[in-house]
Amino acid sequence: MVLVSGSGTNLQALLDAIADDPAAYGARIVAVGADRASIAGLERAERAGVPTFVCRLRDHATREEWDAALTEATAGYEPDLVVSAGFMKIVGKRFLARFGGRFINTHPALLPSFPGAHGVRDALAYGAKVTGCTVHFVDDGVDTGPVIAQGVVEVRDEDHADGGVALHERIKDVERRLLVDVVGRIARHGYRIEGRKVTIQ
Ligand code: GRF
Repeated sequence: MVLVSGSGTNLQALLDAIADDPAAYGARIVAVGADRASIAGLERAERAGVPTFVCRLRDHATREEWDAALTEATAGYEPDLVVSAGFMKIVGKRFLARFGGRFINTHPALLPSFPGAHGVRDALAYGAKVTGCTVHFVDDGVDTGPVIAQGVVEVRDEDHADGGVALHERIKDVERRLLVDVVGRIARHGYRIEGRKVTIQ
């Protein structure tokens, strides 16, 4: 199961890896969920024949009710793993109680540096010379769960001119490959989490 909020290029990379050779890749996507309607991520899923659902915060009276609805919609597909790939909402207690330990996220910075919604912009503003991306398990903090894999991207002097647009694209290049690699290896080999140490077997 993949959760998205926007363009869904990470989702597309997973769909492409599966389409290339489903048996060799080892994973399939049972559904794609979104917190917004009419986004490219949902179109990508529909084009690939993957079921979709939308669960919008504003259709629910409280954040708890939204979290419960997201949990039920996700659970209906009985996923082994839930992948947040550019899903820009923080899930609640119920979702974590149900999917904690099998819920992963991809973040466009080298955690624990620059967590939160502006990882690329914050790394630039800090003057970091290298940044990158992190695939990690989701816990009840913001981008604080155990790290599964990281990829490094150099910051160039000219990145400051466009506010990080080109840098984010270079990060996403690395991020897509990292996510495809991690999800495939988890599907094929399984994983162990001991404290903060994650091992893909
Ligand atoms: C990725 O860089 C992800 O880490 C960040 O938003 C971007 C999503 O890109 N949170 P896409 O929707 O997969 O193209």
